[in-house]
Amino acid sequence: MKNIYTNIYTFNKKILKKTVKSLNQGNIIGLPTETVYGLAGNAYSKKAINKIFKLKKRPIKNPLIIHYHSIKRAYEDVIFNDNFFSLYRKYCPGPITFVLKKKKKSRIHNLATADLDTVAIRFPNHNLIRSILKVINFPLAMPSANISSYLSPVSAYDVFDEFKKKLDIIINGGQSKIGIESTVVDLTSKPRILRPGIISPTEIKKNLRIKLSKKKTNIKSPGMMKKHYSPGIPVILGKKPTNQKYAYIVFGNKFANKGNYFNLSKKSDLKEAASKLYKTMRTIKKSGFKKIFVSKIPNYGIGIAINDRIKRSAK
Ligand code: TXA
Ligand code: MG
Repeated sequence: MKNIYTNIYTFNKKILKKTVKSLNQGNIIGLPTETVYGLAGNAYSKKAINKIFKLKKRPIKNPLIIHYHSIKRAYEDVIFNDNFFSLYRKYCPGPITFVLKKKKKSRIHNLATADLDTVAIRFPNHNLIRSILKVINFPLAMPSANISSYLSPVSAYDVFDEFKKKLDIIINGGQSKIGIESTVVDLTSKPRILRPGIISPTEIKKNLRIKLSKKKTNIKSPGMMKKHYSPGIPVILGKKPTNQKYAYIVFGNKFANKGNYFNLSKKSDLKEAASKLYKTMRTIKKSGFKKIFVSKIPNYGIGIAINDRIKRSAK
């Protein structure tokens, strides 16, 4: 069979060079991270940021996360505070994003931050992206590599699914280990979770030794928009399917993993369930099922993030 995936590359020195050259020219590439795959471009370049929004069909009001190799570089763009240092020390590099005040002299393009005076920053923990971030002299603006409001990709082939040949380079870094997007925490005032993730609110509270703010935000961000993470077919919560044409996503050992049943974790492991969620939904859609029913998933720890994504995918 003819190989259609000609823009998917295995990482090596030659590809690193090609990638850096492409990013320097203001192009956008598909990159793996430990959470989900991203669409990466130079955060200082208007041309690159424009391309990201266009490719994703993303509303320009939704700011992007800016990715760094180290704290030294991020210092040029944002104002750090004690809560940031506590969480950075504990979790970075890792699946957590911090919203901080933007420095006046920051070179991050205003389009990337949707004209806000804050910036969301993250230090991803995947050796491929870290080796790229180490050798370029700008941070990477990088949203999840999917068309706006659809499922995030967790493999290079998922990215291809979304953008086909519109990207010159998609780097294959294997399956994303975590499988759902980073926890977003606003640290510009009393800490507040904007998007739950694998690092749970309880963990963050424990680490900062304070209560988190529950105040609603007026910042429009896709993580907070109601319709998001859609697999492209209807998702129905808390019910069993009435026929075999419908898929059933289940959790725990009382369920099989065959036919139209898709078990996220037979051993009731929420981390495993999170890592399989998007992949499972994508497989179901591709297999031709017309609807997805989802059984109950415990709503604590990582379960909070899983249920958040499932709820939004059902809107
Ligand atoms: O795991 C992740 O975070 C992935 C990987 C690729 O790093 N990225 C990701 O980006 O999920 P995206 O664009 O799909 O989601 C970014 C989230 C959105 O909810 C966005 O609104 C929010 O971060 N965000 C970005 N900048 C913000 C800001 N200044 N204030 C509040 N929220 C912000
Ligand atoms: Mg996204």
